[in-house]
Amino acid sequence: MELVKLTADHIPQMVELEKICFSLPWTADMIRSELNNPSCLYLAAVDGDTLAGYIGVQTVLDEGYINNVAVRPEYRRKGIAAALISLLIDEARAIGLAFMTLEVRESNAPAIALYEKLGFTTVGRRKNYYEKPREDAILMTIFFTKE
Ligand code: COA
Repeated sequence: MELVKLTADHIPQMVELEKICFSLPWTADMIRSELNNPSCLYLAAVDGDTLAGYIGVQTVLDEGYINNVAVRPEYRRKGIAAALISLLIDEARAIGLAFMTLEVRESNAPAIALYEKLGFTTVGRRKNYYEKPREDAILMTIFFTKE
């Protein structure tokens, strides 16, 4: 398994992975515009030619907003999401971000457990944030202190 920068070559597999993972998946056009956005960083976990997982973050000044994390079902529980987030955390510290934050469905126990394990804490809730099905979002943040 290798962690690399996600490129346009990965878009077809990313579209497939979005459809597997999310009820409102991103389209190829949406992904392309993310990849062309200089404030976004997307990382991929690749196994040969297979996109096993990916993560994306957008930075605004010294704040990081994690957009999406997804791992193919057959590659789950192997530490891939944890490796991708850990790499982002290292990068975030290196460039001096104050925090990274994300939203997660309140029913998404695997993702919440993952973020807690990596140091994110619950900081709030957005009522009825998600559709299909309608559900609250839990806001989780990891804060970086400057040494
Ligand atoms: N149940 C309980 N805890 C889980 C879990 C599960 N199904 N999956 C991950 N975790 C927690 C565990 O603490 C795990 O450590 P452990 O395996 O040593 O117990 C830790 O997270 C790291 O797991 P990891 O193997 O790195 O996660 P993953 O590569 O399987 O990916 C998701 C986790 C959530 C990204 C993956 O399940 C996924 O793609 N889900 C669908 C998309 C999604 O919900 N994305 C998040 C949107 S906010």
